[in-house]
Amino acid sequence: EQIKKGSYDHFMQKEIHEQPHSLTTTMRGRVKDSGVLLGGLKEKEYLKTIRRSRRLVFIGCGTSYNAALAARPFVEELTGIPVTMEVASDLLDRQGPIYREDTAFFVSQSGETADTLLALDYALENGALCVGITNTVGSTLSRRTHCGVHINAGCEIGVASTKAYTSQIVVMVMVALAVGSDQISTQVRRQAIISGLSNLPSNVSEVFKLDTEMKELASSLIDSESLLVFGRGYNYATALEGALKVKEVALMHSEGMLAGEMKHGPLALVDENLPIIVIATRDACFSKQQSVIQQLLSRKGRLIVMCSKGDASAVCPSGSCRVIEVPEVADCLQPVINIIPLQLLAYHLTVLRGFDVDQPRNLAKSVTTQ
Ligand code: G6P
Repeated sequence: EQIKKGSYDHFMQKEIHEQPHSLTTTMRGRVKDSGVLLGGLKEKEYLKTIRRSRRLVFIGCGTSYNAALAARPFVEELTGIPVTMEVASDLLDRQGPIYREDTAFFVSQSGETADTLLALDYALENGALCVGITNTVGSTLSRRTHCGVHINAGCEIGVASTKAYTSQIVVMVMVALAVGSDQISTQVRRQAIISGLSNLPSNVSEVFKLDTEMKELASSLIDSESLLVFGRGYNYATALEGALKVKEVALMHSEGMLAGEMKHGPLALVDENLPIIVIATRDACFSKQQSVIQQLLSRKGRLIVMCSKGDASAVCPSGSCRVIEVPEVADCLQPVINIIPLQLLAYHLTVLRGFDVDQPRNLAKSVTTQ
């Protein structure tokens, strides 16, 4: 086992650090200057069917659901098709409507999660086109869906998903680029995203320079009972996923929240003790996040702000927040960068709190029962 871990102490740590490589393999042979080529969607005019769908439905559980949520804004933007999010078990509980005119995307690292597979059976029965996004070639999901895209992130062993998450987002970006490739109005935007994809692995490598800083942050949070993470827009999913990582491995209560909802309840929790991470990297929501930070500071909130490099004084002019500066990339790719400091934080917090990193209590890598 130690041989497989190489120079790392844990699989989760190794898999976090593998991301520049796993993202490269996810994109290999698929991203060209001229556009994106996805072999799995080429046959039988699947792309055309997806373009004609009246709705896209994203279905998954846990981290895979969060990856789909991260993809929602840019998929809507680049395809012009509305996206509905479904937690697999909830879709089944509600027997929510799925139509023949829908395309359902099933996102699953293992391709064996029982709830996701049952939701797949349900969508097939209802006549939707079913697309699988999975890391596991030959998995039940990849066999039962009509078509799909493998994420090619390499085997993931740590129960907490890390490299699969970022590769799932990148696959969804590629799907959005491919589905939207017939739209002239978004051509310049698509080109900018394509060049952003090419630089993404090196930008991810940059983030590892924050490792010591995240370890220090973890040691300052070691005794906290709870941690809130506020995000919005492209980074709402980052808030949910960052909080999920902290919850599942560091066994600390943590909630990811939509910053736009802050004043509708969560604000009541704010005091000088509760640590709050606010994601405020540059995108169309930046000024709204600046005002969220001001509102939290005026309630004496204990803030940790994630911002784009060089923005420390723009997000926290008073200097009273702890600031994490990350490289700025194309706004829709920023979630791939922003989750990494939070993965590192969850990792260090777990080690410092003395919990099992790769096998968190009560959790399984793949939940194959309902
Ligand atoms: C379990 C794992 C999570 C994972 C979820 C979905 O709960 O502990 O890390 O995100 O299942 O798994 P999947 O293989 O479908 O992505």
